[in-house]
Amino acid sequence: MAEKQAATGAEPGAAGVAEGSGQDSGRMRLLFVGDLVGGIGRRTLLESLPVLRERFAPTFVIANGENIAGGLGITPKLADELISAGIDAITLGNHTYRRREIYPYLDAEPRILRPANFLRSQPGHGVCMVERDGVRLGVVNLSGNLHLRAGRSAFTEIEPALAEVAEAEHIIVDMHAEATSEKVAMGWHLDGRVTAVVGTHTHVPTADARVLPGGTAYITDVGMTGPRGGVIGVKREQAIEALLTQMPVRFETSGVDPWLMAVLIRCSRPLRADSIEQVLMPRPPGAAREG
Ligand SMILES: [Fe+2]
Ligand SMILES: [Fe+2]
Repeated sequence: MAEKQAATGAEPGAAGVAEGSGQDSGRMRLLFVGDLVGGIGRRTLLESLPVLRERFAPTFVIANGENIAGGLGITPKLADELISAGIDAITLGNHTYRRREIYPYLDAEPRILRPANFLRSQPGHGVCMVERDGVRLGVVNLSGNLHLRAGRSAFTEIEPALAEVAEAEHIIVDMHAEATSEKVAMGWHLDGRVTAVVGTHTHVPTADARVLPGGTAYITDVGMTGPRGGVIGVKREQAIEALLTQMPVRFETSGVDPWLMAVLIRCSRPLRADSIEQVLMPRPPGAAREG
């Protein structure tokens, strides 16, 4: 019964819109997609991409992929699949190192990022520059320091990270953090210096998308691309059992009510956003369904 309610809870076309979404003055449009959770999150993104490209014609599509491999981490095969589908860069977070096979890939592939404020000795890098239609976009991945394991401060390490992409017309920062305070503070800290600061990690979208006074688009959390019928991606009965019993429970990714959660940022001036719009939509109808 509960399963059925959740499965039919998806209201097509529901979307949150913030500030200036009616205008389309931007020559650069950046779509940032929240944490892809499991195979269902990956399929939801891939099936949504044609609709998103038609509706928004994004110049760049960036996605957080830290939960794409069965809910935890990412593999080279899955990263390759995203890049082949036209994803311009992949950001990660606290689940970066769950799959050992990704370690050499993180060093070799410029377009996949782990937080820049991890230790230098850890595999991978936290900054990249991608180019499309003559526009250079710098992408920076950071981790919060509250309740997450990041070896260095996001607030100090953002400076060398920004220096690496000083030539870019636009810069987006994925601030992967548990605490809303750290994300809000990073938004204000970088206002006027980058195009966008977007929060990830909590898998729950926040209702505070806006362009800050200095011109930086900001949202505390983009949300996830995955099953809304679970508990931040996990089968809800397993999450509830763990909380009820306080005993270890093996978690699996829920298949109930997958949605895509993203933000679209429109820009017409370097390092400034005209608008930020939440894109919250159910997995397109007609696709094969899993339980
Ligand atoms: Fe996540
Ligand atoms: Fe995370």
